[in-house]
Amino acid sequence: MSRPVAIIGGTGPQGSGLALRWARAGETVIIGSRDATRAEKMADSIRQRVSPQAQVSGLENAAACAAADLLMLTVPFEGQAELLKQLKPAIRAGSVLIDATVPLAASVGGRASRTLGVWQGSAAQQTAELVPKGVSVVAAFHNVSADVLNGDDDVDCDVLVCSDDPQATKVAMELAVKIPGVRAIDGGKLENARIVEQITALLVGLNIRHKGHGGVRITGLPEAAYQSRKR
Ligand SMILES: NC(=O)c1ccc[n+]([C@@H]2O[C@H](COP(=O)([O-])OP(=O)(O)OC[C@H]3O[C@@H](n4cnc5c(N)ncnc54)[C@H](OP(=O)(O)O)[C@@H]3O)[C@@H](O)[C@H]2O)c1
Repeated sequence: MSRPVAIIGGTGPQGSGLALRWARAGETVIIGSRDATRAEKMADSIRQRVSPQAQVSGLENAAACAAADLLMLTVPFEGQAELLKQLKPAIRAGSVLIDATVPLAASVGGRASRTLGVWQGSAAQQTAELVPKGVSVVAAFHNVSADVLNGDDDVDCDVLVCSDDPQATKVAMELAVKIPGVRAIDGGKLENARIVEQITALLVGLNIRHKGHGGVRITGLPEAAYQSRKR
């Protein structure tokens, strides 16, 4: 059985899109929500799309944290800090937490094509300050569109993975390449999340301007820099 991944805020488009792709890849997925019923409903709808045997369940966020040591955080920036403070006692020592939060200005009534300044440098670095000691934070999946994740086509996007813990980077890269079409690239230290998060605001603006679902591809690196799904 695969290591379960619990998606905190998994009822939204980004979390449920990742859940759909990982369930299709045979991963064990726990949808987390502030409301257990909402989580179960989303798990049910993913099972309907994938197969009745798909390993997808739904739990309240704290119970989801307690049930897994691989966590994916997909909540809006305005709820991120408060939620992490609430969940701190439930997050298991030694967990890997992957954060996709983008500090969009829309969080405070501004434009979705702009970002907010975050004192820590990025939303992911804020997360790193709020999780229990010994939890490794990874920034990833910021530039993948939820609309694309929720579709059936291959995902035409590279996933830049940033963390100060190389082992956690490896775990997140392995998860990323379960998604058909995705190439995972080690993006260096967690502080690089501030740049990766900004790219999403640019993509939002491009999507509005050109009416699309843009992603990113990094070219010109040696073959070894790109990790992709083994077929
Ligand atoms: N959408 C995209 O294309 C995309 C792409 C890249 C990155 N992202 C980032 O991924 C994150 C999730 O995106 P999304 O579009 O899925 O967001 P969303 O729909 O606004 O929120 C996701 C889930 O978070 C929970 N939530 C909402 N407000 C909350 C609060 N104040 N406190 C705690 N939980 C709250 C809700 O679940 P419950 O009500 O069930 O608890 C909601 O379903 C965001 O940070 C976004 O910037 C999104």
